[in-house]
Amino acid sequence: MKQTLLNNGRRIVYYPDGPEQALPLVLLHGFCEDASLWDGLLPGLRDVPLLRIDLPGFGGSDLLPAPGMDGYADAVCAVLNDLSIGRCVLVGHSMGGYVALEFVEKYPDRLAGFGLIHSHPWADTSERIENRRRGIDMLRSGKRDLYVTQLFPGLFAEAFAKANPEIINLLIEQGKRQPAEGIIAALESMIDRKEHLETVRNAGCPVLFLLGAEDPIIPSGWALQAALLPAVADVHVLPGVGHMGILEAPEKLVEIVQQFWQFCARR
Ligand code: MLT
Repeated sequence: MKQTLLNNGRRIVYYPDGPEQALPLVLLHGFCEDASLWDGLLPGLRDVPLLRIDLPGFGGSDLLPAPGMDGYADAVCAVLNDLSIGRCVLVGHSMGGYVALEFVEKYPDRLAGFGLIHSHPWADTSERIENRRRGIDMLRSGKRDLYVTQLFPGLFAEAFAKANPEIINLLIEQGKRQPAEGIIAALESMIDRKEHLETVRNAGCPVLFLLGAEDPIIPSGWALQAALLPAVADVHVLPGVGHMGILEAPEKLVEIVQQFWQFCARR
């Protein structure tokens, strides 16, 4: 059920679901998405206490001007505080993973585990920064719909994209609901984000790495290097999956994420 909190005068929307238990699984969506990204996993995760959050500037949550990963992580913490949640398992998709890493650094005691889905702890390359700057120019010139229409098809494994145009179209429609200012703030925050290799190396809790063997923007071979860093890692590379495993292989995602949450809860 949708809930809202006012944090420093700004609205943050979140969705608790499932049983009330001490250790919720908190799910953070990625770039140009909102909490509804996870909708297809909800039936499979019905026995898990879930908390989905619309990051500031996306879905129903108000924009934070220049949030940085820091501002997004603080918003997540504000929701946990609002619900009196001491610790959680925090899992983020792509940009949501960047937010999760910032949260791990700032609030390590609030975690029993964290997970990166199609995400990684490195800072942006200069090529990526240039690409994001071109996106910011496009958005500032009023081309939000064109921007998201071009963004999403390139995030899926080729065979999946060919067979499932309607899923990509749904995602594009979801992207068109996001305000241009929120998308720009996210692009600027990703440009400014720092590397988190030490955060991963020093993690005091298990870390989930879930990668797509055909991810066009986060090559799994490269991202796997980060999986060697923490003391306890749960690593999965999904064959035939691109950057959007949540939509490309929902049953597999449910299985992996649920098992990871159970493992963290039992420790
Ligand atoms: C995402 O899916 O959240 C973004 O594509 C991540 C990125 O651009 O680095």
